[in-house]
Amino acid sequence: MKAPRFFQLDSLDAGLLAAEAEAGLRASAAAVSPKFFYDLLGSRLFDAITELDEYYPTRTEAGIFAAQGAAIADAVLGGTGPQPVMVDLGAGSCAKAAKLFAAVQPRRYVAVDISVDYLREALAGLQREHPAVDLVGVGQDFATRLALPAELVDGPALVFYPGSSIGNFAPAEAVRLLSQARAQCRQGGSLLIGADLVKDRAALELAYDDPLGVTAAFNLNLLRRLNALLGTDFDLRQWRHVALFDTRHSRIEMHLEARETLTVRWPQGAAGSGEGGERRFGAGERIHTENSYKWRAAGFEALLHAAGYGAVRCFTDPQGWFGVFVARA
Ligand code: AVJ
Repeated sequence: MKAPRFFQLDSLDAGLLAAEAEAGLRASAAAVSPKFFYDLLGSRLFDAITELDEYYPTRTEAGIFAAQGAAIADAVLGGTGPQPVMVDLGAGSCAKAAKLFAAVQPRRYVAVDISVDYLREALAGLQREHPAVDLVGVGQDFATRLALPAELVDGPALVFYPGSSIGNFAPAEAVRLLSQARAQCRQGGSLLIGADLVKDRAALELAYDDPLGVTAAFNLNLLRRLNALLGTDFDLRQWRHVALFDTRHSRIEMHLEARETLTVRWPQGAAGSGEGGERRFGAGERIHTENSYKWRAAGFEALLHAAGYGAVRCFTDPQGWFGVFVARA
């Protein structure tokens, strides 16, 4: 039996992360990147979101794979040939990729996530089920820069980016990331990517503001994370979750809104910060925490073309709520 290999390419620097969060808090329109959602509790809260009736993307994407998996695999293999190298962006538990192994039969599976530690357990389990596949875990912040060691992608590749995580990127950044993904495919291949589609506002807003309050907890958890990372004294009771569809940008925006006028303070010498600081928020003032772009199928196809891909195919559910796209790298 083979054994998984691991590479940590970007060092996770707590000081740098703290400095980034602090700069976002100080900005006149306060904004903190959604990557700060995913500490241990945040990842669990996201998993809980995917089980909500109101949160349709995970379930709908899985339904598309269940109903059209053979046609999707054919389209993928048309671009890669048999036994491609499979590159999984944001692999996490590797569960979605594992479901494709039977149809795609990858020769090598390269799981990329921000920290290689997230991948160790999943790849060890996967190796027991697939003893002959070459499994590699790569720790890289691919949202900032995707550049894999060339020896890992030594043949036609399948780049897999499910879950509509591409929705966190504004169109220009999405083009940049998808171009970098294509540049990894030096010998050609396919992209297999999930994108959430535009639908009526009520369904969109319910998916991001569920009545059980799981998404509110997920959003508020960001303040807990900042308290741990920066030493801020956010009192979560002073904040409320806001999720609104902005038709102009075609995106759900999540914000945290101050219920009252308040001041947040953080100490000198907290990781990354030189002198400590404070920020006053007026009642109703917001911290922008996430964008989740919603696409029309034709618009997403144009985005893929702008990133250099061709032969785009779109697989969707009967309601047309979610798109699984296959494109030639
Ligand atoms: C993980 C980025 C795909 O945008 O739907 C879920 C994150 N935020 N509920 C999404 C999220 C609030 C999710 N992505």
